[in-house]
Amino acid sequence: MYVCVCNGITDRTVREAAASGVRCLGELTMRTGCAGTCGACAEVAEQILAETCCQPAAGNDAVIQAA
Ligand code: FES
Repeated sequence: MYVCVCNGITDRTVREAAASGVRCLGELTMRTGCAGTCGACAEVAEQILAETCCQPAAGNDAVIQAA
Protein backbone atom coordinates (compact mmCIF):
# COMPACT_ATOMS: atom_id res chain seq x y z
CA MET A 1 0.00 0.00 0.00
CA TYR A 2 1.22 3.48 -0.78
CA VAL A 3 1.76 5.55 2.34
CA CYS A 4 3.22 8.58 0.58
CA VAL A 5 1.73 9.23 -2.83
CA CYS A 6 3.89 12.31 -3.45
CA ASN A 7 7.10 10.30 -3.23
CA GLY A 8 5.91 6.78 -4.07
CA ILE A 9 6.73 5.36 -0.62
CA THR A 10 5.01 2.14 0.40
CA ASP A 11 4.34 0.69 3.85
CA ARG A 12 6.97 -1.91 3.05
CA THR A 13 9.58 0.81 2.58
CA VAL A 14 8.60 2.40 5.91
CA ARG A 15 8.80 -0.99 7.68
CA GLU A 16 12.19 -1.71 6.12
CA ALA A 17 13.42 1.70 7.25
CA ALA A 18 12.20 0.98 10.79
CA ALA A 19 13.92 -2.41 10.73
CA SER A 20 17.16 -0.70 9.74
CA GLY A 21 17.00 1.67 12.70
CA VAL A 22 14.79 4.60 11.69
CA ARG A 23 12.83 5.68 14.77
CA CYS A 24 11.32 9.06 13.93
CA LEU A 25 9.57 10.80 11.07
CA GLY A 26 12.42 13.24 10.47
CA GLU A 27 14.87 10.43 9.92
CA LEU A 28 12.38 8.60 7.70
CA THR A 29 11.99 11.76 5.61
CA MET A 30 15.74 12.16 5.24
CA ARG A 31 16.22 8.54 4.20
CA THR A 32 13.19 8.00 1.96
CA GLY A 33 11.58 11.37 1.22
CA CYS A 34 8.35 10.20 2.88
CA ALA A 35 6.37 13.19 4.23
CA GLY A 36 8.80 15.61 2.64
CA THR A 37 6.37 17.18 0.21
CA CYS A 38 2.75 17.82 1.28
CA GLY A 39 2.99 16.03 4.64
CA ALA A 40 -0.42 14.37 4.39
CA CYS A 41 1.19 10.96 5.00
CA ALA A 42 3.04 11.94 8.17
CA GLU A 43 0.55 10.53 10.67
CA VAL A 44 0.23 7.16 8.91
CA ALA A 45 4.00 6.91 8.43
CA GLU A 46 4.59 7.59 12.14
CA GLN A 47 1.98 4.98 13.05
CA ILE A 48 3.68 2.34 10.88
CA LEU A 49 7.07 3.28 12.34
CA ALA A 50 5.73 2.90 15.88
CA GLU A 51 4.08 -0.43 15.10
CA THR A 52 7.21 -1.81 13.48
CA CYS A 53 9.60 -0.55 16.15
CA CYS A 54 7.58 -2.22 18.92
CA GLN A 55 7.39 -5.64 17.33
CA PRO A 56 10.09 -8.18 18.21
CA ALA A 57 11.96 -9.56 15.24
CA ALA A 58 10.89 -13.06 14.21
CA GLY A 59 12.96 -15.68 15.93
CA ASN A 60 14.46 -13.10 18.25
CA ASP A 61 12.13 -13.47 21.20
CA ALA A 62 14.01 -12.85 24.40
CA VAL A 63 12.84 -14.41 27.62
CA ILE A 64 13.74 -12.46 30.71
CA GLN A 65 13.58 -14.43 33.94
CA ALA A 66 13.73 -12.99 37.42
CA ALA A 67 16.63 -14.30 39.49
S1 FES B 1 1.72 12.14 0.59
FE1 FES B 1 3.65 12.06 1.53
S2 FES B 1 4.46 14.06 1.23
FE2 FES B 1 2.56 14.09 0.22
